[in-house]
Amino acid sequence: MDREIIDQLTAIVGADNASTNPVDLVCYSVDCYAIKKGSMPDIVLRPNSVAEVQGIVRMADKHLIPVVPRAGGSCLTGGCVPTRGGIVLDLQRMNRIIEVSKENLTVTVEAGVVFAQLNTYLQRYGLFFPPDPASGEICTIGGMVAANASGMRAVKYGVTGDYIIGLKVVLPDGRLLDMGGGARKSASGYDLIHLFNRSEGTLGVIVEITLKLRSLPRFIMSAVAKFHSPEDAGRTVARTIAAGVIPAAIEILDEVALQVMREEAHLPLPEAAAMLFLEFHGDDRSEAQKALNKFRKIADEEKCAGIEIATDPVEMERMWAARRRLFATFTRLKPSPIATDIVVPLSKIPEAIREIQEIARKNDVKITTYGHAGDGNVHSLLLADLRIPGESDRAHKAHDDINWMALRLGGTITGEHGIGLEKREMTKDEHGEVGVDIMKRIKKAIDPKGIMNPDKIFEV
Ligand code: LAC
Ligand code: ZN
Repeated sequence: MDREIIDQLTAIVGADNASTNPVDLVCYSVDCYAIKKGSMPDIVLRPNSVAEVQGIVRMADKHLIPVVPRAGGSCLTGGCVPTRGGIVLDLQRMNRIIEVSKENLTVTVEAGVVFAQLNTYLQRYGLFFPPDPASGEICTIGGMVAANASGMRAVKYGVTGDYIIGLKVVLPDGRLLDMGGGARKSASGYDLIHLFNRSEGTLGVIVEITLKLRSLPRFIMSAVAKFHSPEDAGRTVARTIAAGVIPAAIEILDEVALQVMREEAHLPLPEAAAMLFLEFHGDDRSEAQKALNKFRKIADEEKCAGIEIATDPVEMERMWAARRRLFATFTRLKPSPIATDIVVPLSKIPEAIREIQEIARKNDVKITTYGHAGDGNVHSLLLADLRIPGESDRAHKAHDDINWMALRLGGTITGEHGIGLEKREMTKDEHGEVGVDIMKRIKKAIDPKGIMNPDKIFEV
């Protein structure tokens, strides 16, 4: 990048918020996906306002410089790493909560607000933004919109996209597209808001978001249920949801995941081939208890080996915190586990679990299965040391096999992590020639010069 351009970009954000220092550039060349490498950016910029973002993007448009928006860096698919140098736009300084409306049950935030911090702030209003990704302590609302992120509470409360009623995006030519914000629903024209939800930074820079909120539940109860096999646990989940019993969370954990939680998080979990962690929300104990009773009946029919209710809030929080940290904990055991995040129809959960075990055996790779089974979102973590060539090849093969299986079962290759660099070779397999053609035309219409986060979602 020319010295003159570097100086002009630096002038927009100030010297303290621009860096071409190789140490910074290395840090910004990776996210939480450690497998396919991105490239080093030429410059990292940390804007503090919409006007600064517009100034930067206008320069990028003029000089054909790639722009990669980023904030928490928790993406698991390489979605926020550069592949052709250029600018990494770190939005973490844009972390203001602009307005909470208790009357309208909405909040407007800048893109760099961290999920957990938003919810801590909203507590005083008795409100919350539910989707609850495991990376909630670091991921930002802008990134959540870019990936339509979700997590443990999606089963009851839905995903990020279900909550967006307003969005401001800086388009690749520097114009500001201002969409909605006041109305809780709309039938007006193309749904541009949801075009940007899940766009992974390829269509513009998401700078401001208005979200619907929910009232905090009055009563919360957690429970753990033991099973003799992951398939029994999976069948219980599918039957529970199909019976109309919707817990706020219903997470499946296999033997390996449980062992890691016991050893690394020092949790006193019993030995079991699989467990379900559940959370019930209600107005009072009796409402939660009623849902638990219905769940218990189904679980018993699936040979459940025991259900324990956690009543101590500290113990409850430790259990959920350990669950949230599971991916990070696994990275301590193996430097770069590959996380799949397929979603299959509820009725196919037991079959998917069985096939994942078969794929592990066939490819001689250790795989742990856990996740948000209540909406069919099953994570498999492939525990291979990718520095060892044979092991790496087998892990990648197993990864592809799992994604193929999801499509065969009528599901999707990604329920929450996005496609990024990781799965872009499979976009056509899921969406077909026509689907990818339409996506590419949309990309071309909005970003004709191809400067916004190139090489993500599909191959260009
Ligand atoms: C989780 C991440 C991997 O749920 O999505 O732990
Ligand atoms: Zn997850």
